[in-house]
Amino acid sequence: MEKKLRINLHKVPRHVAVIMDGNGRWAKGKGMNRIFGHRNAMTAIRDTVDAAKEIGVEAVTMYAFSTENWNRPKLEVDALMNLLVSTLKKELPEFHKKHIQVSTIGDIISLPKKAQTILRTVISETKDYNGIKLVFALSYGSREEIVNAIKNISKKVVNNEIHLEEINEKVINNHLYTFNLPDVDLMIRTSGEKRISNYLLWQMAYAELYFTDILWPDFRMEHFYDAIIEYQNRERRFGKTSEQITVPKK
Ligand code: IPE
Ligand code: IPE
Ligand code: MG
Repeated sequence: MEKKLRINLHKVPRHVAVIMDGNGRWAKGKGMNRIFGHRNAMTAIRDTVDAAKEIGVEAVTMYAFSTENWNRPKLEVDALMNLLVSTLKKELPEFHKKHIQVSTIGDIISLPKKAQTILRTVISETKDYNGIKLVFALSYGSREEIVNAIKNISKKVVNNEIHLEEINEKVINNHLYTFNLPDVDLMIRTSGEKRISNYLLWQMAYAELYFTDILWPDFRMEHFYDAIIEYQNRERRFGKTSEQITVPKK
């Protein structure tokens, strides 16, 4: 049976976060350099977004470049930035065709100017689409994001725009890059690494975590649906007991 048909369309995660990992190892396995791996990552991104859109996922956040990735060799960082620019240019007609709303999270002003320019174009041209939200995490680090939020909230306290007692989870949420997104329901990481790598720490507080050994350039729709099926087989308890979840509330 086609995998998609096994998915319960009433229990689809609203927000799926993806750590796209394993490009370097994929390329190495083929006797090529790491950059070849990055160049072959696009089909997996397209498949993921298409698969998510087909079942009605509201948002996918794709970890494309972390604050820590700046520490990679300059040659690789430059190649990744160039690839970002060429990929966005090439994919823009697809975003239009599929009504994909593109946005970013992260320290975007640290990106090269030409990346910022094409990002601005893509974001503004797709901002009214409601097909699916495709969010690229670029120069993103969750700790940096939280530091940034604390600074901005503190400024408002100093300026009397908000009172100390009013600071709560919602206020913090509203000051994160992800202010307009629901909490992460499902996090998928490829390549067999079982860690979070500074991704959406606050937003993943109650996310289901899914790890697969598939290397990112090999990730396809069927693998995405495997993750969704596994997610739907889990019981999300949010601190309650299993009985409270399964017995209808009186
Ligand atoms: C993920 O693949 C892409 C980025 C982090 C930009 P990697 O480049 O981390 O590939 P591996 O983990 O070295 O195989
Ligand atoms: C995480 O992958 C960041 C992205 C996928 C963009 P890394 O390959 O950089 O993660 P670590 O350093 O191995 O944890
Ligand atoms: Mg990696």
